[in-house]
Amino acid sequence: MNIAIANDHAGVEIKKLLVQHLKEKGYDVVNFGTNTEESVDYPDYIGKAAKAIQNGSADFGIVICGTGIGASITANKFKGIHAALCHDEYTAKMARNHNNANVLAFGARVLDNEEVIKIVDIFLSEPFLGERHERRVNKVKYIEDKNFC
Ligand code: RB5
Repeated sequence: MNIAIANDHAGVEIKKLLVQHLKEKGYDVVNFGTNTEESVDYPDYIGKAAKAIQNGSADFGIVICGTGIGASITANKFKGIHAALCHDEYTAKMARNHNNANVLAFGARVLDNEEVIKIVDIFLSEPFLGERHERRVNKVKYIEDKNFC
């Protein structure tokens, strides 16, 4: 499974830990930066991960900023990206089970490293449950089709 990961300066430290963790678990990880703590603008990096999913080179994305808010807003501006801002194991599970999210967003300044690893592992292993949720996600896609160029 291919994972695209991108972050601003707030997410550098946890991103490095995550890349190592995911590689150890056998995932192919593409890191779109940023890789230093010099202040950057999150849309410049998050957009690269979103595009990797759009063009099929990544199956899932992980996007990180200080709060996760800017990262999730940015990712959701790309057609076909359904980014979920998750704060705990429950929201990470529901993001997959109910929303079929393909991008996980979280705040590096909100969660500690241990919580992040748990959230990421859950997000990448939980299935979409379909059924009534499929109808709802299809309605989201319908809105997306009508509103994105
Ligand atoms: C950067 O200071 C911070 O604004 C950014 O990481 C993010 O939290 C924005 O949503």
